Amino acid sequence: AIHERIEHYEKLFGVSTEQLKKITEHFVAELDKGLSKEGGSIPMNVAWVLDYPTGKETGKYLALDMGGTNLRVAEIILNGDRTFDVVQSKYHMPANTKTSSAENLWGYVADCVGKFIDQYHEGATDQLMMCFTFSYPCTQESIGHGVLQRWTKGFDIDGVEGHDVVPMLQSALDERKIPVKCAALINDTTGTLVASNYVDPRTKMGCIFGTGCNAAYYDVVKNIPKLEGLVPDDISPDSWCAINCEYGAFDNEHVSLPRTKFDDHLDKHSPRPNQQSFEKMIAGYTLGEILRLVLLDEFEGGNIFEGQDISKLQQPYVLDAAFLSKIETDPWENLMDTEALFSEELGIETNESERAMVHRLCELIGTRAARLSMCGVAAMAKKMNMESAHAGADGSVFNKYPYFKQRAARALADIFDWGDMPAEDHPIKVVAAEDGSGVGAGVIAALTKKRYESHK
Ligand code: BG6
Ligand code: GLC
Repeated sequence: AIHERIEHYEKLFGVSTEQLKKITEHFVAELDKGLSKEGGSIPMNVAWVLDYPTGKETGKYLALDMGGTNLRVAEIILNGDRTFDVVQSKYHMPANTKTSSAENLWGYVADCVGKFIDQYHEGATDQLMMCFTFSYPCTQESIGHGVLQRWTKGFDIDGVEGHDVVPMLQSALDERKIPVKCAALINDTTGTLVASNYVDPRTKMGCIFGTGCNAAYYDVVKNIPKLEGLVPDDISPDSWCAINCEYGAFDNEHVSLPRTKFDDHLDKHSPRPNQQSFEKMIAGYTLGEILRLVLLDEFEGGNIFEGQDISKLQQPYVLDAAFLSKIETDPWENLMDTEALFSEELGIETNESERAMVHRLCELIGTRAARLSMCGVAAMAKKMNMESAHAGADGSVFNKYPYFKQRAARALADIFDWGDMPAEDHPIKVVAAEDGSGVGAGVIAALTKKRYESHK
């Protein structure tokens, strides 16, 4: 019977080449729609980074990076030859800060900056300029501000959505007398794009496959209809302009992605239903939850874990992406790690066929995520007619989830009909970005400074 159940899930979670191509086509149209005056589901946020780096950028910059898992404060030294040095401190983002109060969140963030300043700039009195990587969708009228459109990735804090987050962080810093001025705000995808382009000019896209899933690329000002009338006179219509797609919101209308009842359930019970439809099928934040919902359904159908106490498994989000990673790397022969994981973390004793089913489910959920996520990359490449390009990628799923890179490369080859061409020869490649979008923040600070200085 388990064999039949596995076949059922292979059909349910499998994404064929044909499907990938169709989704990609729709994705390109949705990216265009997001740039139109009327707008669409994908925000296509203008990031106000108005050029590619030259690689000659120099200087010392302070960066704060509030990612999905970690908070980092860094000082970046750009050497002007496409290399850099970084000093950084990493702090964990405590789970309770994600759903607490605005005061609590900004207080925690400011305290981390304070600790870094105490350690590396003790006694500083002059204000240090800082660039803030804030990995949530923001509307920006300039690089120095950002109004949070909505929380994503499970964050849920009142009083921040619809407000400019820069002054909120700034008052927390000022209250603590931390001599830092938050001068620029960027998204992690923009940071990744710029950091990767600084070290490798072939980089035309910046992607995050982590707690969330999103990407940025450069478009041309005159091809962005919604920018009409909003661009300062000194900016040429032919200028490049970075766009933070926020394409986790792709297919919020549910017309194109192969959704299952598990995706529907997950969405309905999330803090923000009907939002981030694409992201919820593929990002680290939800992979474990998808597996949990499938296992519960199988239990209720009387197919697995008969007579066991499943109360732990009944807790929403009790499984994370690392749980799937561990199972996927567990050798097929005996699945001993899987046995231990279920027993120790969930209090469930598994038999051999249950373990085989769980292992296959992880492969299917992980493969679906990798394949679908490439539709976004392919869509940007098609939209900009990129014949060859690198996409710099960062995030816990890209860096740690087993086989993600290989599955992603296979999916891109499927979409572009590259057949069995070896992955290293693929014209469009997803490559590991420089660790931390802090480097991008530094380069953007340098580009911004250059722009202001040239206008003095
Ligand atoms: C980090 C980047 O490496 O990856 C962050 O520096 C980014 O800017 C993060 O937000 C995304 O990964 P995750 O897994 O923490 O969501
Ligand atoms: C979510 C956020 C987005 C971010 C991504 C990756 O999609 O909305 O801003 O880039 O996660 O961290």
